Amino acid sequence: MTDHLPNLDPALSTVIADARESQHRPRILLLYGSTRQRSFSRLLVEEAARLLEHFGAQTRIFNPSGLPLPDDAPSEHPKVQELLELMQWSEGQVWCSPERHGAMSAVFKAQIDWVPLAMGAVRPTQGKTLAVMQVSGGSQSFNAVNQLRVLGRWMRMFTIPNQSSVPKAFLEFDEHDRMKPSALYDRVVDVMEELVKFTLLLRDRPDLVDRYSERKESAEALSQRVNQRSI
Ligand SMILES: Cc1cc2nc3c(=O)[nH]c(=O)nc-3n(C[C@H](O)[C@H](O)[C@H](O)COP(=O)(O)O)c2cc1C
Repeated sequence: MTDHLPNLDPALSTVIADARESQHRPRILLLYGSTRQRSFSRLLVEEAARLLEHFGAQTRIFNPSGLPLPDDAPSEHPKVQELLELMQWSEGQVWCSPERHGAMSAVFKAQIDWVPLAMGAVRPTQGKTLAVMQVSGGSQSFNAVNQLRVLGRWMRMFTIPNQSSVPKAFLEFDEHDRMKPSALYDRVVDVMEELVKFTLLLRDRPDLVDRYSERKESAEALSQRVNQRSI
């Protein structure tokens, strides 16, 4: 059982001091991609959540069980609403998918496919930080994390440089469902520490993801509406 939590990085306090406006603990949503009873992608996000709390963040883990397939139920469905509320609440996210047939799992992708392109005028994931992780049954592979990075770009998120890929995940957790000490565990610590730092730095900066082409488009749409009204 990994009870020894890492020492806090001195750079974390510098980042906290430099961070702007918001004073509350960073809000991190963790998603995993399986409905299996003993799911290693779930166990890995639970481990990640413990570390994030240790680094000063608040965390929520979404359980995908019961989430309908995309478009197969109204978006008022309680599981969809729960997911969308958590999306809006979060300032950063952790995505952890199992590798299935060399790709992210359908259970993982279904969660992202429920996220609308815009809620009000805002893309719910835009400008949030993201850390990507995967578990596999075979040897170490990066197929799922590579796909998650592409998905993060599509969702306009800041995907941090570090990532975690846990091969033969069934060997890495003990009988208490805790991750065993290893270089793979240390990598998870690295990734969560980096995520907290980037979230503190970026969460008050929606201006960084404001786009010229979209400002131009909305200015044109506005002037068209004004012209129509004056005809
Ligand atoms: C249908 C299926 C396809 C899989 N494909 C791969 C694969 O391509 N590469 C791999 O390393 N493991 C593969 N696995 C093993 C899973 O990645 C592994 O069991 C993982 O722990 C599943 O995640 P979970 O424990 O969160 O359910 C596959 C498992 C299943 C059931």
